[in-house]
Amino acid sequence: MNESPPVPLEPLYALADAELQERIAQAKAQLAERCLILGHHYQREEVYHFADLTGDSLKLSRLAAQRTSSQYIVFCGVHFMAEVADILSSPEQTVILPDLAAGCSMADMADLPHVQEAWQALSQVVDAEKVITPLTYVNSTADLKAFCGMHGGSVCTSSNAEKMLRWAFAQREKVLFFPDQHLGRNSSHRLGVPLAEMALWQPGLPNGGLSAEEIRRAKVLLWDGYCSVHTMFQPAHVALFRQRIPGIQVIVHPECAFEVCQLADDRGSTEQIQERVRSAPAGSKWAIGTELNLVNRLKREMPDKEIHFLCPTVCMCSTMFRIDLAHLCWVMENLQQGYVVNPIRVPEREATAARVALQRMLQVV
Ligand code: 13P
Ligand code: SF4
Repeated sequence: MNESPPVPLEPLYALADAELQERIAQAKAQLAERCLILGHHYQREEVYHFADLTGDSLKLSRLAAQRTSSQYIVFCGVHFMAEVADILSSPEQTVILPDLAAGCSMADMADLPHVQEAWQALSQVVDAEKVITPLTYVNSTADLKAFCGMHGGSVCTSSNAEKMLRWAFAQREKVLFFPDQHLGRNSSHRLGVPLAEMALWQPGLPNGGLSAEEIRRAKVLLWDGYCSVHTMFQPAHVALFRQRIPGIQVIVHPECAFEVCQLADDRGSTEQIQERVRSAPAGSKWAIGTELNLVNRLKREMPDKEIHFLCPTVCMCSTMFRIDLAHLCWVMENLQQGYVVNPIRVPEREATAARVALQRMLQVV
């Protein structure tokens, strides 16, 4: 990476959106096929507008693996998504994250030392390599995907968690699921695992806060991680909408708490929520429990439906929000001049093992 790119970032902050939009459009037109912009559904509207392809994390992972013709992939999403794109794209391609501070607070709740510590502690009680499949939510760092690759495990996304849990149970009798306890609990429950057979692993506590007996009894060990956006949705919000708007359908993301998912009519990934609401008849009424940018976009797109945000307060993914027009303009104009800023490069050893875990997922779903 060049130390000082020809286009500095700071002056771009002073520009009006219209000017930034014009400059991004120019750079995009000039880079043409060489540059692919991917956009996650939670991106702010003005950035989402420039995405060549949009999707949930599974769809974007697949697209990154398929689009070998683009030399640059500008990923308007968060850090773990760009890492997956780097792992699955070809070595000739470069993945760029417009703002390196666009992380995921849930992904930060599990790190390799703590997961290794958990694996060792579990191995004192059971033969972990024989009886536990490690399964990481895609919202995790590349080294945790590599850990799963090396220990017979895999990766899941919010759209395939049940399928991947079924796969994991077909390999070994127990699952260590990290970092999102809610996705793990909701999906395991739908497969028929009773709550009594799920145990919460609290990293940092001796034996994750569990007795040897609790570990032996558990079918699923759930890492104590969560999304601070999706845990804002409460059962009372569902009750309030049902009381206020008869006939309303409630659809939520499976990162929401178990009680909220139980009360909802339906659940799904960002792509699945979008498809479900789009395919509903005009006049249908919806309360949606996922990030605000997506819900507002659906509202604008479908004025013939009554769409509400499930929470009375603003729940936004503040890290996704860091990708703004100034950062997009900055990376695009530098690319135009042959400078790569903010490349995401997963070290090869780590990428190789993580690819094993990701490919196991892509073969199943
Ligand atoms: P999706 O897989 O539904 O896009 O979810 C990603 C995410 O981070 C939700 O918070
Ligand atoms: Fe991470 Fe939550 Fe943001 Fe999704 S919404 S990227 S889980 S912090």
